[in-house]
Amino acid sequence: MATLNIVILAAGKGTRMHSDLPKVLHSLAGKPLLQHVLDTATEFSPDKTCVVYGHGGEIVPQTMAHYKADFVLQEPQLGTGHAVQQALPQLQGHGLTMVLYGDVPLIQHTTLRQMLSRQDALTLLTVHLDNPTGYGRIVRDGSGNITSIVEEKDATPEQRSIKEVNTGILAASTHLLRNWLAKLQNNNSQGEYYLTDIAAMAVEQGILVHSVQAAHAWEVQGINSKVQLAELERTWQREQSYHLLGQGVTLADPARVDIRGKLVCGRDVEIDIGCIFEGDVDLGNNVRVGAYSVIRNSSVSSGTQIAPYSHIDQAEIGNNCHIGPYARIRPGSKLHNDVHIGNFVEVKNSEIAASSKANHLSYIGDSTVGSRVNIGAGTITCNYDGANKYRTVIEDDVFIGSDTQLVAPVTVKRGATIGAGSTITREAPEGELTLSRSKQVTIAGWKRPIKQVKGEK
Ligand code: UD1
Ligand code: MG
Repeated sequence: MATLNIVILAAGKGTRMHSDLPKVLHSLAGKPLLQHVLDTATEFSPDKTCVVYGHGGEIVPQTMAHYKADFVLQEPQLGTGHAVQQALPQLQGHGLTMVLYGDVPLIQHTTLRQMLSRQDALTLLTVHLDNPTGYGRIVRDGSGNITSIVEEKDATPEQRSIKEVNTGILAASTHLLRNWLAKLQNNNSQGEYYLTDIAAMAVEQGILVHSVQAAHAWEVQGINSKVQLAELERTWQREQSYHLLGQGVTLADPARVDIRGKLVCGRDVEIDIGCIFEGDVDLGNNVRVGAYSVIRNSSVSSGTQIAPYSHIDQAEIGNNCHIGPYARIRPGSKLHNDVHIGNFVEVKNSEIAASSKANHLSYIGDSTVGSRVNIGAGTITCNYDGANKYRTVIEDDVFIGSDTQLVAPVTVKRGATIGAGSTITREAPEGELTLSRSKQVTIAGWKRPIKQVKGEK
Protein backbone atom coordinates (compact mmCIF):
# COMPACT_ATOMS: atom_id res chain seq x y z
CA MET A 1 0.00 0.00 0.00
CA ALA A 2 1.10 3.55 -0.67
CA THR A 3 2.37 5.77 2.12
CA LEU A 4 -0.25 6.66 4.71
CA ASN A 5 -0.20 9.61 7.10
CA ILE A 6 -2.83 10.13 9.76
CA VAL A 7 -3.35 13.60 11.21
CA ILE A 8 -5.47 13.91 14.35
CA LEU A 9 -6.83 17.36 15.14
CA ALA A 10 -6.89 17.93 18.87
CA ALA A 11 -6.09 21.59 19.42
CA GLY A 12 -9.62 22.84 20.07
CA LYS A 13 -10.50 24.49 23.31
CA GLY A 14 -13.50 22.52 24.51
CA THR A 15 -14.96 25.56 26.29
CA ARG A 16 -18.29 23.81 26.81
CA MET A 17 -16.72 21.01 28.84
CA HIS A 18 -16.18 23.54 31.67
CA SER A 19 -13.07 21.68 32.73
CA ASP A 20 -9.37 22.32 33.25
CA LEU A 21 -8.60 19.05 31.48
CA PRO A 22 -8.19 19.37 27.70
CA LYS A 23 -11.32 18.05 26.00
CA VAL A 24 -9.57 15.17 24.21
CA LEU A 25 -8.34 13.78 27.54
CA HIS A 26 -11.82 13.27 28.96
CA SER A 27 -12.72 9.59 29.11
CA LEU A 28 -15.28 7.56 27.24
CA ALA A 29 -15.60 3.88 28.18
CA GLY A 30 -12.65 4.29 30.53
CA LYS A 31 -10.24 5.69 27.96
CA PRO A 32 -9.40 9.27 26.87
CA LEU A 33 -11.18 10.38 23.70
CA LEU A 34 -7.88 10.94 21.91
CA GLN A 35 -6.69 7.47 22.87
CA HIS A 36 -9.69 5.88 21.15
CA VAL A 37 -8.70 7.71 17.96
CA LEU A 38 -5.01 6.85 18.35
CA ASP A 39 -5.86 3.17 18.87
CA THR A 40 -7.99 3.14 15.72
CA ALA A 41 -5.25 4.99 13.81
CA THR A 42 -2.64 2.50 15.01
CA GLU A 43 -4.61 -0.36 13.45
CA PHE A 44 -3.64 1.03 10.03
CA SER A 45 0.10 0.95 10.87
CA PRO A 46 0.49 4.37 9.26
CA ASP A 47 3.88 5.63 8.16
CA LYS A 48 3.27 8.74 10.20
CA THR A 49 0.76 9.68 12.87
CA CYS A 50 0.64 13.34 13.77
CA VAL A 51 -1.43 14.84 16.60
CA VAL A 52 -2.07 18.57 16.39
CA TYR A 53 -2.52 19.88 19.93
CA GLY A 54 -2.91 23.32 21.45
CA HIS A 55 -5.24 23.94 24.32
CA GLY A 56 -4.17 22.45 27.63
CA GLY A 57 -0.54 22.51 26.58
CA GLU A 58 1.93 19.72 27.14
CA ILE A 59 -0.39 17.46 29.09
CA VAL A 60 -1.75 16.08 25.79
CA PRO A 61 1.61 14.84 24.42
CA GLN A 62 2.67 13.77 27.92
CA THR A 63 -0.42 11.63 28.44
CA MET A 64 -0.08 10.01 25.01
CA ALA A 65 3.71 9.69 25.02
CA HIS A 66 3.53 5.89 24.69
CA TYR A 67 2.11 6.17 21.16
CA LYS A 68 4.35 6.24 18.12
CA ALA A 69 3.14 9.68 17.04
CA ASP A 70 4.50 13.17 16.43
CA PHE A 71 2.90 15.95 18.45
CA VAL A 72 2.70 19.32 16.74
CA LEU A 73 1.70 22.46 18.60
CA GLN A 74 -0.84 24.73 16.92
CA GLU A 75 -0.65 28.13 18.57
CA PRO A 76 -2.77 30.18 17.97
CA GLN A 77 -5.62 28.07 16.61
CA LEU A 78 -6.76 29.60 13.36
CA GLY A 79 -9.05 26.88 12.07
CA THR A 80 -9.05 23.28 10.89
CA GLY A 81 -7.11 24.10 7.69
CA HIS A 82 -4.49 25.93 9.73
CA ALA A 83 -4.29 22.93 12.05
CA VAL A 84 -3.49 20.53 9.19
CA GLN A 85 -0.95 23.06 7.83
CA GLN A 86 1.01 22.65 11.10
CA ALA A 87 1.31 18.92 10.42
CA LEU A 88 2.51 19.27 6.80
CA PRO A 89 6.26 19.23 7.59
CA GLN A 90 5.81 15.82 9.28
CA LEU A 91 3.89 14.19 6.45
CA GLN A 92 5.62 11.58 4.35
CA GLY A 93 5.51 10.34 0.79
CA HIS A 94 3.04 10.66 -2.04
CA GLY A 95 0.26 8.42 -0.79
CA LEU A 96 -2.73 9.48 1.26
CA THR A 97 -3.24 11.59 4.34
CA MET A 98 -6.26 10.91 6.49
CA VAL A 99 -7.56 13.58 8.86
CA LEU A 100 -9.31 12.46 12.06
CA TYR A 101 -10.68 14.45 14.98
CA GLY A 102 -9.46 13.85 18.52
CA ASP A 103 -12.94 14.59 19.84
CA VAL A 104 -14.71 12.08 17.55
CA PRO A 105 -13.72 8.97 19.50
CA LEU A 106 -15.78 6.13 18.07
CA ILE A 107 -14.86 6.26 14.40
CA GLN A 108 -14.51 2.65 13.29
CA HIS A 109 -11.68 0.99 11.45
CA THR A 110 -13.98 -0.51 8.79
CA THR A 111 -15.40 2.89 7.82
CA LEU A 112 -11.95 4.42 7.50
CA ARG A 113 -10.69 1.45 5.50
CA GLN A 114 -13.52 2.06 3.05
CA MET A 115 -12.35 5.67 2.66
CA LEU A 116 -8.80 4.58 1.90
CA SER A 117 -9.58 1.60 -0.29
CA ARG A 118 -9.85 3.39 -3.65
CA GLN A 119 -6.92 5.74 -3.12
CA ASP A 120 -9.03 8.63 -4.48
CA ALA A 121 -7.65 12.18 -4.55
CA LEU A 122 -10.21 13.38 -2.00
CA THR A 123 -12.77 11.37 -0.02
CA LEU A 124 -15.07 12.95 2.54
CA LEU A 125 -16.83 11.07 5.29
CA THR A 126 -20.40 12.36 5.39
CA VAL A 127 -23.52 11.50 7.32
CA HIS A 128 -27.22 12.33 6.94
CA LEU A 129 -28.67 14.00 10.03
CA ASP A 130 -32.30 14.88 10.73
CA ASN A 131 -30.99 17.95 12.49
CA PRO A 132 -27.88 19.19 10.67
CA THR A 133 -27.55 22.38 12.77
CA GLY A 134 -23.97 23.44 13.36
CA TYR A 135 -22.36 21.24 10.74
CA GLY A 136 -20.83 22.05 7.37
CA ARG A 137 -23.25 21.05 4.58
CA ILE A 138 -22.31 18.89 1.60
CA VAL A 139 -23.34 20.76 -1.55
CA ARG A 140 -23.90 18.62 -4.67
CA ASP A 141 -24.71 19.52 -8.28
CA GLY A 142 -27.57 18.19 -10.45
CA SER A 143 -25.64 14.97 -11.17
CA GLY A 144 -25.06 14.38 -7.48
CA ASN A 145 -21.37 15.27 -7.55
CA ILE A 146 -19.97 17.20 -4.59
CA THR A 147 -19.19 20.82 -5.45
CA SER A 148 -18.27 22.23 -2.05
CA ILE A 149 -18.67 22.15 1.71
CA VAL A 150 -20.39 25.20 3.15
CA GLU A 151 -20.11 26.02 6.85
CA GLU A 152 -23.41 26.79 8.52
CA LYS A 153 -22.37 30.36 9.28
CA ASP A 154 -21.59 30.96 5.59
CA ALA A 155 -24.55 29.02 4.16
CA THR A 156 -27.58 30.36 2.34
CA PRO A 157 -31.00 29.40 3.78
CA GLU A 158 -31.36 26.91 0.93
CA GLN A 159 -27.99 25.30 1.74
CA ARG A 160 -28.92 25.13 5.41
CA SER A 161 -31.78 22.80 4.54
CA ILE A 162 -29.29 20.18 3.26
CA LYS A 163 -29.19 17.20 5.60
CA GLU A 164 -25.99 15.62 4.39
CA VAL A 165 -23.21 17.00 6.56
CA ASN A 166 -19.44 16.98 6.72
CA THR A 167 -18.13 14.86 9.57
CA GLY A 168 -14.75 16.57 9.15
CA ILE A 169 -13.00 13.26 8.59
CA LEU A 170 -11.38 12.99 5.17
CA ALA A 171 -8.69 11.29 3.16
CA ALA A 172 -6.70 13.17 0.55
CA SER A 173 -3.73 12.73 -1.71
CA THR A 174 -0.82 14.04 0.38
CA HIS A 175 0.63 15.80 -2.60
CA LEU A 176 -2.62 17.59 -3.55
CA LEU A 177 -3.35 18.39 0.11
CA ARG A 178 -0.07 20.31 0.31
CA ASN A 179 -1.01 22.34 -2.77
CA TRP A 180 -4.54 23.06 -1.60
CA LEU A 181 -3.53 24.07 1.92
CA ALA A 182 -0.97 26.49 0.51
CA LYS A 183 -3.84 28.36 -1.16
CA LEU A 184 -6.24 28.55 1.82
CA GLN A 185 -7.68 31.92 2.72
CA ASN A 186 -9.64 33.05 5.72
CA ASN A 187 -12.14 35.37 4.08
CA ASN A 188 -15.20 33.76 5.65
CA SER A 189 -17.61 34.69 8.41
CA GLN A 190 -15.37 33.24 11.15
CA GLY A 191 -12.05 34.54 9.79
CA GLU A 192 -10.65 30.99 9.98
CA TYR A 193 -8.65 28.81 7.62
CA TYR A 194 -11.22 26.16 6.76
CA LEU A 195 -9.95 22.69 5.84
CA THR A 196 -13.31 22.24 4.12
CA ASP A 197 -12.37 24.74 1.41
CA ILE A 198 -10.20 22.08 -0.23
CA ALA A 199 -13.35 20.42 -1.61
CA ALA A 200 -14.16 23.37 -3.85
CA MET A 201 -10.46 23.64 -4.85
CA ALA A 202 -10.49 20.02 -6.01
CA VAL A 203 -13.67 20.56 -8.01
CA GLU A 204 -12.14 23.65 -9.62
CA GLN A 205 -9.25 21.47 -10.82
CA GLY A 206 -11.71 18.99 -12.30
CA ILE A 207 -11.06 16.42 -9.59
CA LEU A 208 -14.06 14.37 -8.50
CA VAL A 209 -14.67 14.52 -4.74
CA HIS A 210 -15.81 11.18 -3.38
CA SER A 211 -17.79 10.47 -0.27
CA VAL A 212 -18.25 7.56 2.10
CA GLN A 213 -21.21 7.35 4.45
CA ALA A 214 -20.60 6.47 8.05
CA ALA A 215 -22.44 3.25 8.91
CA HIS A 216 -23.61 4.58 12.29
CA ALA A 217 -24.25 8.16 13.40
CA TRP A 218 -22.41 7.44 16.69
CA GLU A 219 -19.19 6.80 14.78
CA VAL A 220 -18.99 10.43 13.77
CA GLN A 221 -20.50 11.99 16.87
CA GLY A 222 -18.15 14.66 18.23
CA ILE A 223 -17.89 15.65 21.87
CA ASN A 224 -18.33 19.27 22.86
CA SER A 225 -20.01 19.03 26.25
CA LYS A 226 -20.48 16.71 29.23
CA VAL A 227 -24.01 16.04 28.00
CA GLN A 228 -22.72 14.77 24.65
CA LEU A 229 -20.03 12.77 26.45
CA ALA A 230 -22.57 11.10 28.73
CA GLU A 231 -24.93 10.41 25.82
CA LEU A 232 -22.21 8.91 23.64
CA GLU A 233 -21.06 6.78 26.58
CA ARG A 234 -24.59 5.34 26.87
CA THR A 235 -24.81 4.82 23.10
CA TRP A 236 -21.50 2.97 23.09
CA GLN A 237 -22.41 0.85 26.11
CA ARG A 238 -25.69 -0.07 24.46
CA GLU A 239 -23.84 -1.06 21.25
CA GLN A 240 -21.52 -3.32 23.23
CA SER A 241 -24.36 -4.86 25.23
CA TYR A 242 -26.32 -5.68 22.09
CA HIS A 243 -23.21 -7.12 20.52
CA LEU A 244 -22.86 -9.48 23.51
CA LEU A 245 -26.56 -10.37 23.40
CA GLY A 246 -26.10 -11.14 19.71
CA GLN A 247 -23.37 -13.60 20.65
CA GLY A 248 -25.64 -15.38 23.12
CA VAL A 249 -24.56 -13.76 26.39
CA THR A 250 -27.40 -13.32 28.89
CA LEU A 251 -27.55 -9.81 30.33
CA ALA A 252 -30.11 -9.25 33.08
CA ASP A 253 -30.43 -5.69 31.77
CA PRO A 254 -28.42 -4.50 28.75
CA ALA A 255 -28.68 -0.94 30.08
CA ARG A 256 -26.96 -1.83 33.35
CA VAL A 257 -23.62 -3.28 32.30
CA ASP A 258 -20.58 -1.13 31.54
CA ILE A 259 -17.68 -2.37 29.46
CA ARG A 260 -14.61 -0.17 29.63
CA GLY A 261 -12.29 -2.16 27.43
CA LYS A 262 -12.75 -5.54 25.79
CA LEU A 263 -14.96 -8.27 27.22
CA VAL A 264 -14.74 -11.68 25.59
CA CYS A 265 -17.39 -14.24 26.61
CA GLY A 266 -17.74 -17.96 26.00
CA ARG A 267 -21.09 -19.72 25.61
CA ASP A 268 -23.93 -19.36 28.09
CA VAL A 269 -22.38 -16.61 30.15
CA GLU A 270 -24.78 -14.76 32.45
CA ILE A 271 -24.16 -11.26 33.74
CA ASP A 272 -26.41 -9.68 36.34
CA ILE A 273 -27.06 -5.95 36.72
CA GLY A 274 -24.57 -3.29 37.68
CA CYS A 275 -21.42 -5.12 36.59
CA ILE A 276 -18.38 -3.22 35.31
CA PHE A 277 -15.70 -4.79 33.13
CA GLU A 278 -12.44 -2.88 32.69
CA GLY A 279 -9.51 -3.54 30.37
CA ASP A 280 -9.25 -7.04 28.92
CA VAL A 281 -11.61 -9.49 30.57
CA ASP A 282 -12.19 -13.08 29.46
CA LEU A 283 -15.14 -15.08 30.76
CA GLY A 284 -15.25 -18.79 29.91
CA ASN A 285 -18.31 -20.92 29.13
CA ASN A 286 -21.10 -20.95 31.70
CA VAL A 287 -19.53 -18.28 33.86
CA ARG A 288 -22.04 -16.36 35.98
CA VAL A 289 -21.25 -12.89 37.27
CA GLY A 290 -23.39 -11.67 40.15
CA ALA A 291 -24.77 -8.17 40.53
CA TYR A 292 -22.48 -5.17 41.08
CA SER A 293 -19.25 -7.04 40.49
CA VAL A 294 -16.22 -5.25 39.06
CA ILE A 295 -13.75 -7.28 36.99
CA ARG A 296 -10.60 -5.75 35.55
CA ASN A 297 -7.91 -7.30 33.33
CA SER A 298 -8.69 -10.82 34.44
CA SER A 299 -9.68 -14.19 33.10
CA VAL A 300 -12.37 -16.38 34.61
CA SER A 301 -12.58 -19.95 33.32
CA SER A 302 -15.55 -22.16 32.59
CA GLY A 303 -18.25 -22.83 35.10
CA THR A 304 -17.04 -20.37 37.71
CA GLN A 305 -19.70 -18.53 39.69
CA ILE A 306 -19.03 -15.04 40.93
CA ALA A 307 -21.55 -13.99 43.55
CA PRO A 308 -22.61 -10.33 43.92
CA TYR A 309 -20.35 -7.43 44.91
CA SER A 310 -17.07 -9.14 44.09
CA HIS A 311 -13.99 -7.26 42.87
CA ILE A 312 -11.46 -9.05 40.72
CA ASP A 313 -8.37 -7.25 39.44
CA GLN A 314 -5.51 -8.72 37.37
CA ALA A 315 -6.29 -12.24 38.44
CA GLU A 316 -6.56 -15.63 36.79
CA ILE A 317 -9.41 -17.78 38.02
CA GLY A 318 -9.79 -21.44 37.09
CA ASN A 319 -12.80 -23.63 36.30
CA ASN A 320 -15.76 -24.15 38.61
CA CYS A 321 -14.61 -21.77 41.32
CA HIS A 322 -17.02 -20.06 43.72
CA ILE A 323 -16.14 -16.45 44.37
CA GLY A 324 -17.95 -14.06 46.69
CA PRO A 325 -20.28 -12.55 47.57
CA TYR A 326 -18.09 -9.61 48.65
CA ALA A 327 -14.81 -11.21 47.64
CA ARG A 328 -11.78 -9.20 46.64
CA ILE A 329 -9.20 -10.83 44.40
CA ARG A 330 -6.26 -8.50 43.83
CA PRO A 331 -3.39 -8.36 41.29
CA GLY A 332 -1.11 -11.33 40.88
CA SER A 333 -3.60 -13.88 42.13
CA LYS A 334 -4.04 -17.23 40.46
CA LEU A 335 -6.78 -19.56 41.59
CA HIS A 336 -6.82 -23.09 40.19
CA ASN A 337 -9.96 -25.16 39.62
CA ASP A 338 -12.72 -25.62 42.22
CA VAL A 339 -11.37 -22.99 44.60
CA HIS A 340 -13.89 -21.31 46.94
CA ILE A 341 -13.28 -17.74 48.07
CA GLY A 342 -16.13 -16.50 50.23
CA ASN A 343 -17.40 -13.29 51.75
CA PHE A 344 -14.95 -10.65 52.92
CA VAL A 345 -11.95 -12.65 51.83
CA GLU A 346 -9.10 -10.71 50.23
CA VAL A 347 -6.52 -12.51 48.11
CA LYS A 348 -3.44 -10.68 46.85
CA ASN A 349 -0.45 -11.91 44.86
CA SER A 350 -1.16 -15.49 45.83
CA GLU A 351 -1.52 -18.82 44.12
CA ILE A 352 -4.19 -21.16 45.43
CA ALA A 353 -4.18 -24.71 44.10
CA ALA A 354 -7.22 -26.80 43.25
CA SER A 355 -10.11 -27.43 45.62
CA SER A 356 -8.88 -25.17 48.40
CA LYS A 357 -11.27 -23.00 50.39
CA ALA A 358 -11.19 -19.73 52.28
CA ASN A 359 -14.82 -19.02 52.87
CA HIS A 360 -14.98 -16.27 55.46
CA LEU A 361 -13.22 -13.06 56.53
CA SER A 362 -9.60 -13.72 55.60
CA TYR A 363 -6.54 -12.03 54.14
CA ILE A 364 -4.33 -14.20 51.98
CA GLY A 365 -1.42 -12.12 50.72
CA ASP A 366 1.90 -13.15 49.12
CA SER A 367 1.03 -16.78 49.71
CA THR A 368 1.37 -20.12 48.00
CA VAL A 369 -1.48 -22.39 48.98
CA GLY A 370 -1.62 -26.06 48.02
CA SER A 371 -4.57 -28.26 47.05
CA ARG A 372 -7.48 -29.23 49.31
CA VAL A 373 -6.48 -26.69 51.93
CA ASN A 374 -9.15 -25.37 54.28
CA ILE A 375 -8.48 -21.89 55.59
CA GLY A 376 -10.73 -21.18 58.56
CA ALA A 377 -12.68 -17.99 59.15
CA GLY A 378 -10.66 -14.95 60.10
CA THR A 379 -7.27 -16.35 59.10
CA ILE A 380 -4.72 -13.65 58.28
CA THR A 381 -1.36 -13.95 56.59
CA CYS A 382 0.83 -11.31 58.24
CA ASN A 383 2.92 -10.59 55.14
CA TYR A 384 4.27 -7.14 56.00
CA ASP A 385 6.56 -6.02 58.79
CA GLY A 386 6.20 -2.34 57.96
CA ALA A 387 9.11 -2.39 55.54
CA ASN A 388 9.28 -5.71 53.70
CA LYS A 389 6.86 -8.33 52.47
CA TYR A 390 7.30 -12.06 53.03
CA ARG A 391 5.66 -15.20 51.71
CA THR A 392 3.49 -17.72 53.45
CA VAL A 393 3.55 -21.28 52.15
CA ILE A 394 0.66 -23.60 53.00
CA GLU A 395 1.16 -27.05 51.55
CA ASP A 396 -1.45 -29.56 50.33
CA ASP A 397 -4.19 -30.88 52.64
CA VAL A 398 -3.54 -28.40 55.43
CA PHE A 399 -6.34 -27.35 57.78
CA ILE A 400 -5.97 -23.89 59.30
CA GLY A 401 -8.22 -23.32 62.30
CA SER A 402 -10.22 -20.10 62.53
CA ASP A 403 -8.70 -16.82 63.63
CA THR A 404 -5.14 -17.88 62.97
CA GLN A 405 -2.31 -15.49 62.17
CA LEU A 406 0.45 -16.83 59.96
CA VAL A 407 3.45 -14.54 60.45
CA ALA A 408 5.49 -14.67 57.24
CA PRO A 409 7.93 -15.90 56.22
CA VAL A 410 6.42 -19.15 57.40
CA THR A 411 5.55 -22.59 56.05
CA VAL A 412 2.80 -24.97 57.09
CA LYS A 413 3.83 -28.40 55.90
CA ARG A 414 1.68 -30.94 54.10
CA GLY A 415 -1.30 -32.30 55.97
CA ALA A 416 -0.68 -30.15 59.06
CA THR A 417 -3.51 -28.89 61.23
CA ILE A 418 -3.33 -25.53 62.97
CA GLY A 419 -5.49 -25.10 66.04
CA ALA A 420 -7.92 -22.19 66.03
CA GLY A 421 -6.72 -18.89 67.40
CA SER A 422 -3.02 -19.60 66.87
CA THR A 423 -0.22 -17.21 66.02
CA ILE A 424 2.18 -19.24 63.90
CA THR A 425 5.68 -17.83 63.58
CA ARG A 426 7.70 -20.98 62.87
CA GLU A 427 7.32 -23.89 60.47
CA ALA A 428 4.43 -26.22 61.36
CA PRO A 429 5.49 -29.84 60.73
CA GLU A 430 3.86 -32.23 58.32
CA GLY A 431 0.81 -34.13 59.49
CA GLU A 432 0.85 -32.78 63.06
CA LEU A 433 -1.46 -30.53 65.06
CA THR A 434 0.29 -27.28 65.88
CA LEU A 435 -1.26 -24.59 68.02
CA SER A 436 -0.10 -21.62 70.03
CA ARG A 437 -2.57 -20.63 72.69
CA SER A 438 -2.47 -20.30 76.42
CA LYS A 439 -4.38 -23.09 78.13
CA GLN A 440 -8.02 -22.49 79.04
CA VAL A 441 -8.50 -21.99 82.78
CA THR A 442 -11.55 -21.46 84.94
CA ILE A 443 -11.28 -19.22 88.03
CA ALA A 444 -13.69 -20.67 90.49
CA GLY A 445 -15.92 -18.18 92.33
CA TRP A 446 -14.86 -15.17 90.23
CA LYS A 447 -17.40 -12.33 90.28
CA ARG A 448 -17.98 -9.65 87.68
CA PRO A 449 -17.29 -6.14 88.94
CA ILE A 450 -20.46 -4.29 89.97
CA LYS A 451 -21.08 -0.71 88.86
CA GLN A 452 -20.92 1.82 91.71
CA VAL A 453 -24.10 3.96 91.85
CA LYS A 454 -23.30 7.68 92.42
CA GLY A 455 -23.66 8.88 95.98
CA GLU A 456 -23.50 5.36 97.38
CA LYS A 457 -20.56 4.36 99.51
C1 UD1 B 1 -15.82 21.41 11.48
C2 UD1 B 1 -16.01 21.49 9.96
C3 UD1 B 1 -17.48 21.25 9.62
C4 UD1 B 1 -17.92 19.90 10.18
C5 UD1 B 1 -17.64 19.84 11.66
C6 UD1 B 1 -17.90 18.45 12.17
C7 UD1 B 1 -14.37 23.11 9.18
C8 UD1 B 1 -14.15 24.49 8.74
N1 UD1 B 1 -15.60 22.80 9.52
O1 UD1 B 1 -16.55 22.48 12.03
O2 UD1 B 1 -17.65 21.25 8.23
O3 UD1 B 1 -19.30 19.72 9.92
O4 UD1 B 1 -16.26 20.14 11.96
O5 UD1 B 1 -17.80 18.43 13.56
O6 UD1 B 1 -13.46 22.31 9.17
N2 UD1 B 1 -9.34 22.14 15.61
C9 UD1 B 1 -7.99 22.33 15.74
N3 UD1 B 1 -7.47 23.56 15.51
C10 UD1 B 1 -8.25 24.60 15.13
C11 UD1 B 1 -9.62 24.41 14.99
C12 UD1 B 1 -10.14 23.16 15.22
O7 UD1 B 1 -7.24 21.42 16.09
O8 UD1 B 1 -7.69 25.70 14.92
C13 UD1 B 1 -9.88 20.80 15.86
C14 UD1 B 1 -10.81 20.77 17.04
O9 UD1 B 1 -10.13 20.42 18.23
C15 UD1 B 1 -11.81 19.69 16.65
C16 UD1 B 1 -11.84 19.77 15.14
O10 UD1 B 1 -10.65 20.42 14.75
O11 UD1 B 1 -11.34 18.41 17.00
C17 UD1 B 1 -13.05 20.51 14.64
O12 UD1 B 1 -13.04 21.82 15.11
P1 UD1 B 1 -14.37 22.61 15.40
O13 UD1 B 1 -14.00 23.96 15.85
O14 UD1 B 1 -15.27 21.81 16.24
O15 UD1 B 1 -14.96 22.73 13.91
P2 UD1 B 1 -16.44 23.04 13.53
O16 UD1 B 1 -16.58 24.49 13.48
O17 UD1 B 1 -17.35 22.29 14.37
MG1 MG C 1 -17.21 21.16 16.18
